[in-house]
Amino acid sequence: MEIPNLVERSFLRRLERIQPHGLGLSLDVYSPDIFTLLGALRQRQVFPDYVEIFRAAPAALAAVRRRIGESLTPYHGEGLWLTQPGICEDPAFLKEVETIAHHLSMLDSAWLTHECATKSIAGYSYGTYLPPLYTEAGAAVVAENAIAVQAIFDRHDCFVNGRSPLLLLELPPLTYFVAGTLSIPTFFRLMTQVAPCGLVLDVGHLWTVFRYSGAWRTVSLERFIDEFLEEFPLHRVVQIHVAGLDLHAADKGVPEVCLRREAMDCPPSWIDAHGAPIPPLLFEMLDRILSNPRLTNLRGLALEVDTKAVSLIVKEFSEFQERYAGVFSEARRPKKTLCRDEETQMTPKRSVPAAVKSALESAYERYARIVSGQAEPVGPEWTQPTACIDELNLYRSVYLPYEILSWGGDVRAMFPESCDRLDEKGMPLSAFVEFWFRCPRATEGSYDFFLVKISMFVEFVRQAAPELIDIAEREADELRRAYDLANEPSPQAVGGA
Ligand SMILES: [Fe+2]
Repeated sequence: MEIPNLVERSFLRRLERIQPHGLGLSLDVYSPDIFTLLGALRQRQVFPDYVEIFRAAPAALAAVRRRIGESLTPYHGEGLWLTQPGICEDPAFLKEVETIAHHLSMLDSAWLTHECATKSIAGYSYGTYLPPLYTEAGAAVVAENAIAVQAIFDRHDCFVNGRSPLLLLELPPLTYFVAGTLSIPTFFRLMTQVAPCGLVLDVGHLWTVFRYSGAWRTVSLERFIDEFLEEFPLHRVVQIHVAGLDLHAADKGVPEVCLRREAMDCPPSWIDAHGAPIPPLLFEMLDRILSNPRLTNLRGLALEVDTKAVSLIVKEFSEFQERYAGVFSEARRPKKTLCRDEETQMTPKRSVPAAVKSALESAYERYARIVSGQAEPVGPEWTQPTACIDELNLYRSVYLPYEILSWGGDVRAMFPESCDRLDEKGMPLSAFVEFWFRCPRATEGSYDFFLVKISMFVEFVRQAAPELIDIAEREADELRRAYDLANEPSPQAVGGA
């Protein structure tokens, strides 16, 4: 029998404290309203074993915890950009980790799920996740950052019985491209050799890897899964997510695009879409993953179903519960491991050399400029066989402008008067997209794309049409007020039994 090394033992010791969570739901507090959803599930006699809660305001988390009672409520965080070099020296990042630690203790969470991805690179902001640069330096930096975050949790004294939650990094989705010099499973293998973190394997995200790494050109989906899992550190997977996939809103009903893809016998250009129905194909993939004997430490299996109709969530979860009722039977009960307690509190032995971090910083700065169309995809991360940029242009010319103008807040609906006046002046909104990526800008406080969009639009108007600044600022103030109100928990949620 193989004797686990110190990093592995540290992971196992932390894992030992996590009870099996079973079949759960990973939910947003606000969309759909979590209490309406839980009420509908109860009415249908459908009870999730656990509810993973996506990042929300502390008052909303407290209300959820009160209403949910004894149920297990692990946390799905947001805003820790662990892929980025240098973050641990940033006081704003350390404050953010403290904030998340506080949220974790409010929910008494056994783990923190966080995407191994970012929405902020070198001062450029995005609405949806960008995967890391899959390079050796990229893996080393994620590992170092993951160790630092775990160490902050370990030092925090607010966790019940000193049981600090385990950091789980999630395999991120690909949206049309991937860059790097390593295969994705190799990146995660190298990262977990250094950091004692757990992982979340998201089945839909794995499908996007099949699609946008170009693997579909050479192997079947079944063979792709087997080969991916052969290299991926599957024993570190503590939770599995399953969510919807869909075509991008701007990609639907574009006949020439569809025809071209059909002619190439290409899988659909689906992207991660929590609001869309879950394609049956993902459950076939899940069956294959669950049957892999190296998946030994699974504690939870959840549908990730935010921004979706309540009736569809209830239907999908009922079917899911029926199909996977046996997953957490005796065979998957956790086994005792023999580790010393002090091994849990491991501190990093190695740190990434400054020169490596600085080179990675430059590579990420280039990454931000390439994906926004300001630079061409040259250099090893963009030209090795492990990179795939066949559809990078779709990201640059369709996905990203849509994200800035429509996704997570339609600019025309947010700033109707400012936009009308810009129209009158013959100034197209595409100029706002160009403005967005013209230069890097620092963001303040917890990352929130809606608030970033508001500030950026005001700045855009200030520079492009200064005579309209009063209108833009007034509209921005109204938006911020409405947003604060919407993020308060409803009186029914706070006061209800
Ligand atoms: Fe996920």
